[in-house]
Amino acid sequence: MKVFINKNIPEAGILLLQEKGISITVNPTENVLSRNEFIKICQENDALLNVGANNLDEDFFQQCPNLKGIALFSVGFDSVHIPSANSRKIPVGNTPDVLSRATSDIAFLLMQSVARKSFYNHKKIIKGEWDIFDALDNLGQELYGKTLGIFGLGRIGFEMAQKCKAAFGMNIIYHNRSQNENAEKELDAKFTDFETLLAQSDVLSIHSNYAEENHEIFNKNTFAKMKPNAIFINTARGKFHNEDDLFHALTNNIIWGAGLDVTNPEPMKQDNPLLSLPNCCILPHIGSATYEARNGMAVCAAQNIIALFEGKKMPFCVNEEVYF
Ligand code: DGY
Repeated sequence: MKVFINKNIPEAGILLLQEKGISITVNPTENVLSRNEFIKICQENDALLNVGANNLDEDFFQQCPNLKGIALFSVGFDSVHIPSANSRKIPVGNTPDVLSRATSDIAFLLMQSVARKSFYNHKKIIKGEWDIFDALDNLGQELYGKTLGIFGLGRIGFEMAQKCKAAFGMNIIYHNRSQNENAEKELDAKFTDFETLLAQSDVLSIHSNYAEENHEIFNKNTFAKMKPNAIFINTARGKFHNEDDLFHALTNNIIWGAGLDVTNPEPMKQDNPLLSLPNCCILPHIGSATYEARNGMAVCAAQNIIALFEGKKMPFCVNEEVYF
């Protein structure tokens, strides 16, 4: 049995696989493989440990009939066409929990950065524009006692809500497919419909897995329903928001500001107009980029591969239905 790892991962995961005697091929080049090169190597392997956002669509599965399992190096699984995996009984694993703290840290950091315009002010110093003290300039907003709205309250959303409550005594409201009893009990979080979430959030933070039905759900119409002081935070997937509409909302005082760790496409182009706005803070998809989280992700992904090779159920599986 052979596994292909399309980009290097932390050693913790590699060692686990080697200890089990699993034969691994790590992409030998630093370059991103072309789709054809990627598919060709996947055809020669029994399993794929996938790092990054390769599009694992129906065409991919058709071309790689020997694949028996996929372990994603991510919690998000929007890059995989799950019905195609299901129809072939291919389990798909992800890396939940281990990155929840790191990702919510970045959401929290962006929230404060936007509230205090910190990225913009840092850029001003670099450009030699640090001016003498002005009582009316550089004013941000405080978050004490304000309302945090979470779109998709799972593990990462819970961590974000917990931090916001502890640091600023924020009230928590959330919109989800189902109610999160733990968050209601622990954080006094209140379940709302989407319209209420838009209307009442002072900070609105996305922590949902992306699905087609939510494509650009944050757009001209929905930004218009948010408060003028609202801060929009997206650390989930860039496809949740429409970028032109966000630019419009930010430059027409429809919302106060935005913090993004994800864009569409990624990488964002250097001349993207959002990068020059005083009320927008952007990071290059570093939510899970800590030693702790990435080691944890490597271990989860390796455990998924090991289970596959031992004929067991993957411990972190997004399509458990393939086992029934
Ligand atoms: C995740 O784990 O989904 C992160 O966004 C990295 O892709």
